[in-house]
Amino acid sequence: MLVLSVVHTKGGVAKTTSAVYLATAAVRRGLSVIVLDADPQGSALLWADAAERAGDPLPFPVVTADATTMVNPPDADLVIIDTPPGYPALIDAAIDAASVVLVPTGASPLDLMRAWPTLQVTAHRPTAVLLTQVMLGSKLATEARAALEDEGVAVIGTPILRREHVRQAFASVPRDLVGYDDVLGELLGAIAEGVPA
Ligand SMILES: Nc1ncnc2c1ncn2[C@@H]1O[C@H](COP(=O)(O)OP(=O)(O)OP(=O)(O)O)[C@@H](O)[C@H]1O
Ligand SMILES: [Mg+2]
Repeated sequence: MLVLSVVHTKGGVAKTTSAVYLATAAVRRGLSVIVLDADPQGSALLWADAAERAGDPLPFPVVTADATTMVNPPDADLVIIDTPPGYPALIDAAIDAASVVLVPTGASPLDLMRAWPTLQVTAHRPTAVLLTQVMLGSKLATEARAALEDEGVAVIGTPILRREHVRQAFASVPRDLVGYDDVLGELLGAIAEGVPA
């Protein structure tokens, strides 16, 4: 069983979006997947409930989780933990439970400044940064990758573009995975090799 925790101490960086898209990508690959929603706001659960009501149910279970559940998650090939911003105890529990930690962040210099404290907290676990909400044609992703790699931080090779249909995907099953399948492939490859991502 692999446990992937999606973590950032700040809000609105695409943690929940990444959890739902990666879970969808994993199901398409034939893996059994469960999403643990460790966010007291319950955004992933709300997504699942709204999708169900809209007649387009997510193809994986989303269940609420706390620090105790995360230590002993339900069995699945892949467990994805969606975490809240600003709850250090829940964030630490998700990091400790993880085979690999994924830190989504925007690619601007300000976004990177906001990501460093999270990267310090996850430094003792295999961690990879995912650049998200990148504007098409922007140089920022290249610059952000260089800045992070200079500091020894692993960066997923596929950046995720800012796309209107991603904003509209709440309450439905994502169709166009906007690169999240490649992201999942990289993460699974890194875990299989036993290499810190
Ligand atoms: N690739 C993308 N393109 C366009 N919009 C995006 C993309 N990824 C995420 N978003 C949007 O950004 C907003 C924040 O995303 P999301 O809720 O996933 O972040 P979060 O880190 O889980 O936030 P919170 O910390 O509040 O839980 C949402 O409106 C979402 O639709
Ligand atoms: Mg969220």
